[in-house]
Amino acid sequence: MNVEVILSPAELPALTRRDLRATACVVFDVLRATSTFVTALQNGAKEIIPAGEISEALEIKKCRPDVLLGGERHGVRISAGGINFDLGNSPREYPPEVVRGKTIVSTTTNGTRALRAVASAPTVLAASFLNLAVTVEFLRGGNFPEIVLVCAGTGENPADEDIIAAGALVDALLPGKETHSRRTDSAVAARAAYFEAVRMGLERKISLSENAQRLLAIPELRDDVAFCLQRDIFPLVAKMENGAIQKV
Ligand code: MLT
Repeated sequence: MNVEVILSPAELPALTRRDLRATACVVFDVLRATSTFVTALQNGAKEIIPAGEISEALEIKKCRPDVLLGGERHGVRISAGGINFDLGNSPREYPPEVVRGKTIVSTTTNGTRALRAVASAPTVLAASFLNLAVTVEFLRGGNFPEIVLVCAGTGENPADEDIIAAGALVDALLPGKETHSRRTDSAVAARAAYFEAVRMGLERKISLSENAQRLLAIPELRDDVAFCLQRDIFPLVAKMENGAIQKV
């Protein structure tokens, strides 16, 4: 098993051009897209369709008026084309009474872009701290020769919280000196970032990140940071099937 980490969204164009047919891709957008998708599935949502652009989400809505529109731009709920989206991108906006049995079409700045970038891979997972352990178990049981962890980032920049979460996965998946598996240098770097965060206190370290600082500055969104840093509270694997993320 070869484990690699895409540390920055700047690497996505090259990743999109790669042959991913033997690869399992795991996308991290801890603050907040993948955390929100995992929460929505835990609360009974049927599926989440990641859309690249707002226009694409509106197109899907035209064909499927039953779907809920979710996502963000600049961290807040989208209003576009005279349409107010139903939901923003806070996991706390996706309780069972709102999402149960629903299909959600979501477009976000980084998370959905990263998910779309690896859509050609046979296995695409959405991961977060909320469902990390079960994601590791799924990967361990899958016999994947290639595993690529994709850090969605913030804007065009690497996001510390995504790198730390990817590092936590590398450490859980390849804890010791595996002889049959390989951590690439990017995986070693992510794992080191995780160790540093654990040493400093994970929440304290991540609260200093660019996106955490932005969310902490918005009173109605500040609690999203602590929510998204909870560990393994949702025992579900979120896997892309036919362009939609579903609970395995
Ligand atoms: C993103 O996809 O860029 C993030 O999830 C943005 C956010 O939720 O603030």
